[in-house]
Parts: sequence; structure tokens; C-alpha cells
Amino acid sequence: MRASTQARRAPKTCAVLLAAGEGVRSGGRKQFRRAHGRSLLVHAAVGLLRVREIRGLVVVVPVDRVEPTERDLEQAALPCWQRVVAGGATRHLSSRAGIDALPDSCEWVLVHDAARPFASPELIRRVLRAARRAGAAVPALDVHDSILLLEAGNAAQASRYLPRARLRAVQTPQAFARDRLVDCFARARRHDFTDDASVVRRYGYEVEVVGGEDANRKITTPEQLRTALRELARREKTKHGED
Ligand code: CTP
Ligand code: MG
Repeated sequence: MRASTQARRAPKTCAVLLAAGEGVRSGGRKQFRRAHGRSLLVHAAVGLLRVREIRGLVVVVPVDRVEPTERDLEQAALPCWQRVVAGGATRHLSSRAGIDALPDSCEWVLVHDAARPFASPELIRRVLRAARRAGAAVPALDVHDSILLLEAGNAAQASRYLPRARLRAVQTPQAFARDRLVDCFARARRHDFTDDASVVRRYGYEVEVVGGEDANRKITTPEQLRTALRELARREKTKHGED
């Protein structure tokens, strides 16, 4: 069996791409909006697969979008092992569904938001390298605004400022040793974790923090969505010499 065929059947490093949200703040399911004929989620998948060691992909979508997404991925002809599964009511439950669908051969997992289609291969490699050292790793950015904690139950009352120099804004992709991630998810009882590294921290494991990227900010608002779709279309046109 050739090495590439082997990797396709038994990938060691896999990505879980989370795309099962409702996109309430962006005005609808942003992950299916298209730029240059491809959905945002397919753009995000193609971005991950620019890193050659990632040879398996689990895409998590709303239950009514499993089949259309399988067709979309087929059309994109991504060169990897792949599976599409239904997500859950929270991001954490969608992660869980994605992790449960990983192939047996998988040893290293990258969990990524489809709402971040601009993660560079350098960033992805940096996170994977750190996870191989520490067992888990996240990209993060310094915080430039002052961050205020509010009084519980009173959104108009300042409690205290948090120490900005020690704060970081955490991004995805986040990378993990598969066994450790599965162990922590099996122990987790809450469903409201907003990312995967927080589950790993909850059970006391180390998480290494590496530099994130400004361009990798999460698409959240309608304006960010419009700008991102324009940028993705522009890049594709340049790539295909249509400019
Ligand atoms: N996500 C998911 N399953 C959920 C909720 C979110 O897979 N139940 C995914 C989203 O599709 C997105 C990523 O997690 O790619 C980050 O979530 P967010 O940016 O908050 O997206 P949405 O939850 O869709 O948006 P909103 O919170 O505005 O509704
Ligand atoms: Mg959300």
C-alpha cells in the first residue's frame, strides 16, 4: 500500500471542524454562506488541509445539513479521509459528536471553528508542534482593551478590572493528544464550555499557549461576515488569475 493511501485510510492527525451553530449574531448560519462557489466551511476545511500531516477530517453540522454537506465536500474533492456528523445544542456537544466520530487510527486532534477560515498553515503547525510537546495547545492573542468584570446580575455595575497583562483572547485551532481529550470529555458534566482547552484545564492538564493571528479572528457579526466573504472571493480570483 502506498504511503498516501495508508494515510487516507488510517490518518494519525485529524481535524474536527465545528459548523453546527445557528449564527444568531451574524443573522443566520454563516458557515454555509458562499464565496467563489464554496461555502465558508469548505474554505475552512481547505485551509486546514494545506497542512499535509492533517489527513482526516470530521465536519460537524446541524442535523438537517449532513447530506448537503457530504455533497459539498465530495464536490470539493478534498484529499483526505472524511466524515460528516450531526452536532448538538451547544458548541461543547458538537465537539463531543466530532470527537466521537474520529477514526481509531487518530492520535492527534485539532479542533477548529468553521467561523475562522483564515488560520494560516504556520499557525496550525505551531499549535500542533506545541501540543506534541505539552499534550494540548491553543493559539491566543494579547488583549488590548481593558477588561471589566461586572457585578453578578447587574450589567450596569462595575465589579473590578482584570489584570490585562495576564489576559489572552483564545482562538482555534486547538490541538490535543487524542487520549487526553477523550478522557477529559468523558469526565465533563457541564455542556457550556466555550472551547475545548477549557475542558482539558478543568481536569488539571497542561495547555501550552502559542501566538495567535489577527486574521484568524472569529467571524461573528454581519459586517465581519460580509468582509470575510469578500476577502475569500478576492483570494480565489487572484489564485485563478481572474484579476
Ligand atoms: N458551533 C457548533 N455547534 C453549536 C454552536 C456552535 O458547531 N451548537 C460552531 C459554530 O458553527 C462555529 C463555532 O462553533 O463555527 C464557533 O461558534 P460561534 O462563532 O458562536 O457560532 P454560532 O454559535 O453559529 O453563532 P452565534 O453564537 O452567533 O449563534
Ligand atoms: Mg455561538
